Amino acid sequence: MTEQDFIPQEYTKTIESGTITWESPSNIALIKYWGKKKDQIPENPSISFTLNNCKTITKLTYSRKQDTSNYEFEVYLDGEKKEEFKPKIETFFKRVQLYLPFLDSYVFKIETTNTFPHSSGIASSASGMSALALCLMSLEKQLNPEMKDDFFNQKASFLARLGSGSACRSIEGDLIVWGKTDAVDGSSDLFAVKYPYKVHENFKNYQDTILLVDKREKQVSSTVGHNLMHNHPFAIERFKQAHEHLKKLKPILESGNLNDFIAMIESEALTLHAMMMTSMPYFILMKPNTLKIINKIWEYRNQTKSHIGFTLDAGANVHVLYPKHESSEILEFIKNELVAYCQQGHYICDEIGLGANQLL
Ligand code: PMV
Repeated sequence: MTEQDFIPQEYTKTIESGTITWESPSNIALIKYWGKKKDQIPENPSISFTLNNCKTITKLTYSRKQDTSNYEFEVYLDGEKKEEFKPKIETFFKRVQLYLPFLDSYVFKIETTNTFPHSSGIASSASGMSALALCLMSLEKQLNPEMKDDFFNQKASFLARLGSGSACRSIEGDLIVWGKTDAVDGSSDLFAVKYPYKVHENFKNYQDTILLVDKREKQVSSTVGHNLMHNHPFAIERFKQAHEHLKKLKPILESGNLNDFIAMIESEALTLHAMMMTSMPYFILMKPNTLKIINKIWEYRNQTKSHIGFTLDAGANVHVLYPKHESSEILEFIKNELVAYCQQGHYICDEIGLGANQLL
């Protein structure tokens, strides 16, 4: 597939007006995407768990207009009009106009809400951009009813990527790969695909308890962070390592070896933050409580041989990952020992999910 394959032929139908609603989840990377080329083309492949409970629900209302000289849309979050969201969506519309040529022929109302608190330090860009991409694809499918489901998902992922890189991994579940790599047949830089190989039972229903260490907006955005990988002294080695990690992860996912899995994801999380700390200018997104939690997890694991592990995204919050069958002991440990390090004791219980759903 190339970009050209996503440019549609003339549409066979005309649609005057309607509404479409999708809910789309967030995702957490196990092998991290950090560093990109133009238009969110990743410098290295990544793999993620799709989440189940942290979601964005987006309702798109559309009606046809005659004048195609500009985009006409309003954006609402939790029922409140958000002028400040408009520039990002306008940029997105411009970027995808070639692939969705109907965009300037409709007036849109975009109403969105998240199942997780707005100020939780959890980025809503993955779930938000994927939900919007799916709504637009549903409209395109009405204009071209012949469209196949596989193409629908691929193009939704392709569009979501143009909105916000990692959003392309939020369309489907449960393990998703994005970025061309020899380790995964069918992988692409343009869109994400379902991990196509055998996955052991140990990884079904994997749990992710998100410890909210710092709910404030992070000081350095992902966009700035990605850009600092240009001319980064360790970038080339890091990009190579991500390919190698994906190769090594395959037998781990197949055999269900949890100790090797934990070693891989923790190393990936710390490598991501090591890249931040060795950028120029350098920066640190972890907080003292992030490190306290990590050390507590290591101590508990040494003492109990539990299969608890962690990963981090581009922030201070800690994603505690563990197999479902160990949940009762681990949740007890989290409540007794880790919640004290969370801002206002807040955390979110999530688990691996199967992807986005159309609601109406
Ligand atoms: O999609 P972005 O540009 O917000 O970047 C996401 C980067 C990480 O969350 C740190 C890693 C990843 O692969 O999701």
